[in-house]
Amino acid sequence: MVKLNLGCGNKILFGYVNIDLRGGNNIVKADILEYLRNTPNNNVEEVILHHVIEHFSRRESKIVLKEIFRVLKPAGLLDIKCPDVYKISKSYVESRTTCSQFNSYIYGGQNYPYNYHKCGFDEKYLSEMLKKIGFGKIKRGHRYPMEVSLKALK
Ligand SMILES: C[S@@+](CC[C@H](N)C(=O)[O-])C[C@H]1O[C@@H](n2cnc3c(N)ncnc32)[C@H](O)[C@@H]1O
Repeated sequence: MVKLNLGCGNKILFGYVNIDLRGGNNIVKADILEYLRNTPNNNVEEVILHHVIEHFSRRESKIVLKEIFRVLKPAGLLDIKCPDVYKISKSYVESRTTCSQFNSYIYGGQNYPYNYHKCGFDEKYLSEMLKKIGFGKIKRGHRYPMEVSLKALK
């Protein structure tokens, strides 16, 4: 049973192939898109993509999601989380988020080369993108206040 934790950072999950460009103990050092492109169709039960999709450009982010759809088995699960640009912007405009926090949520921590955000999502935009790619059932997952969290089935 193949389960992928893409862009794992230091959140290593037991039973998953943990993949990150930065490598580390029990981590496959690889680029997500390259790894996916070398994975056969209908091969993976589950993909975790937490706080990673925003690290790709708008064009690449669609390619990553399409590749995930391709490698998932029928009824395979994508568990995706990312910053919610709508909630972050609303919170900033209402002065509940400082400019410094806003910068970090929207543009990334910027404390290492891969920690920069290149695109943004809200729940509606991401759900519609997933539907367009072909995902069937899409449900809201557990989420923190500034997050989009979706679980989508192929
Ligand atoms: C904000 S961290 C999220 C880490 C973890 N998923 C979590 O939820 O805490 C984003 C991670 O994605 C990795 N990353 C960014 N672009 C990547 C790429 N093209 N291929 C592989 N890993 C990538 C970064 O190295 C970083 O560890």
